[in-house]
Amino acid sequence: MKPLISIDIPEIKKLYQGKVRDLFPVDDEHMLIVSTDRISAFDYIFPNGIAGKGIILNKISNIWFKQIGFIKNHIVEDNFSNFPAPYSNYPEIFKDRSIIVKKTKRIDFECVARGYIIGGGWKEYQEKGEISGIKLPAGLEMAEKFPETLFTPATKEDTGHDMNISIDFMKKDIGEKDSEFLSEITKEVYKFGRDKLEAAGIILADTKLEFGYHNGEIILIDEVMTPDSSRFWDGKLYKKGSSPVSYDKQFIRDYIDTTPWDKNSPPPPLPDEIVDKTYEKYNEILLKIENVFK
Ligand SMILES: Nc1ncnc2c1ncn2[C@@H]1O[C@H](COP(=O)(O)OP(=O)(O)O)[C@@H](O)[C@H]1O
Ligand SMILES: [Mg+2]
Repeated sequence: MKPLISIDIPEIKKLYQGKVRDLFPVDDEHMLIVSTDRISAFDYIFPNGIAGKGIILNKISNIWFKQIGFIKNHIVEDNFSNFPAPYSNYPEIFKDRSIIVKKTKRIDFECVARGYIIGGGWKEYQEKGEISGIKLPAGLEMAEKFPETLFTPATKEDTGHDMNISIDFMKKDIGEKDSEFLSEITKEVYKFGRDKLEAAGIILADTKLEFGYHNGEIILIDEVMTPDSSRFWDGKLYKKGSSPVSYDKQFIRDYIDTTPWDKNSPPPPLPDEIVDKTYEKYNEILLKIENVFK
């Protein structure tokens, strides 16, 4: 199977191209989102993709969208058999990796919930003793569980790197009420995923969500608790103080750190064995999540 990296259909004009997803028009209120096989890290897209990754991401998100009943989401149709023309004419492109969604006015913040200290959060804590303006107790170890789940939003930049911000910064932009709501609902979604996955021996360390306004109401959009947007750790091998074994994009980031790429210029292609191993990890977490809800 060849990776689906770019979609060019002369009769269909793209609305937008994200790092991983392409957006296509349906009607005034709806659009179609395709998860391609592109992979990005440190906000750069790699020249080669991971064949089948988009299908995995789409499946995982759709499971969560169906399971999470306490907030509305953007899904209108996730079954290709019910897609309208012209999309129905291109199963090789759209099948199993596309959804039809409600168009929303996106809230331009990434809503991050963290249960464990790792990655950018661990770095910020070591430098400042806090994460996104939240003071933390001294002496936390790498990958340690926080006493309480944190909400650590970031700006969503169209170009360049997203920036961690405090909830107070967010409040200045979208107001106190919506910011507090996003903080609570983000943590609730995280805890839902964390508790469901615990039974499968997986630790959900953190996750990033996006939301949009739809008829004045905040709804969940984009993708939910996938290995692109979340950290999944092997519960059996987990030990605070060391870097956990994960089923997510961390594998790519760790590989990058062994290469000379400066993270500030177009990246070189990923080697085949890294592509294959990443696919295996993504597929393994899909199977585990499917198993939880069987
Ligand atoms: N229902 C929706 N309404 C409006 N925008 C959406 C919706 N669902 C997803 N999006 C946006 O579509 C884009 C999806 O592309 P993606 O590759 O995930 O982008 P990114 O590079 O920001 O990760 C993102 O900009 C996301 O915010
Ligand atoms: Mg995205």
